[in-house]
Amino acid sequence: MKTQLIDTIQALHDYKTTLKPEDSIGLVPTMGALHAGHLSLIQKSKAQNTHTIVSIFVNPTQFGPKEDFNQYPRDLQKDLFLCSTNGVDAVFAPTIAQMYPHSDTITLAPPKNLGYVFEGFIREGHFSGVLTIVLKLLHLIAPNRAYFGQKDAQQLLLIQRLSHDLFLPVQIIPCPTQRDTDGLALSSRNIYLSPQERQIALKIPATLEAIKQKIQEGQTQSAALLAIGKQMLQGLDIEYFAICDHHLSPLDTIQKDGTIVLVAAKVGKTRLIDNLWI
Ligand code: PAF
Repeated sequence: MKTQLIDTIQALHDYKTTLKPEDSIGLVPTMGALHAGHLSLIQKSKAQNTHTIVSIFVNPTQFGPKEDFNQYPRDLQKDLFLCSTNGVDAVFAPTIAQMYPHSDTITLAPPKNLGYVFEGFIREGHFSGVLTIVLKLLHLIAPNRAYFGQKDAQQLLLIQRLSHDLFLPVQIIPCPTQRDTDGLALSSRNIYLSPQERQIALKIPATLEAIKQKIQEGQTQSAALLAIGKQMLQGLDIEYFAICDHHLSPLDTIQKDGTIVLVAAKVGKTRLIDNLWI
């Protein structure tokens, strides 16, 4: 199946006029460098909608001045091939000028509690950029459903809030984290890791797995779980490691169906995030 490449907003409007009223659109928003994690979102969208659109846009406003916007992996031809072989109907890949027609632009501010802790504290302005671009994409594409990975837990929670607070007519579908055979959560940034760094990075999924095991054995105290985890994460430059509820408030005791264990750490120059939804 050939995927249609749509690279202007006008072409997107034209594409949408070819759809029938009974059709449904699933949107998979990405920054490209597609991997098996993205493909699992695409599969879910294809199962639930008549049409699947993947957006590919490396969004400059969600990168800080010292982050990897210029180095971020880009390979549109490879991404298009993956989309075609996975049955994607259309790829929307606009230019920066199209998505941000004014340099002095309107931006969204995330809510204070959810938006300025963890990633929001470390990556100043990041969620403002994410929410702004996601709102623009949802507005332009008007999907019935949009698919986001649980790996970016805080992003997912904020996008659920965006949809709820702004009454957006879209269903936000969370999708489980996909892992490599060695357990590392799939991420476009994993290519930055040397083989030695990757071995160190594997302490992250091993720690989350050990915490899951301890919880299954009956441990409910966050302090005890975090102590075990900190031992296991030795050697990594930990940015945060916490056990929280879905509002990202720290929890003393694990709540069934309402707990997330969050970790962010640097291995060499590469920043990795991972989490466990309980
Ligand atoms: O998760 C991502 O790839 C990005 O943050 C998103 C949601 C596509 C917005 O640019």
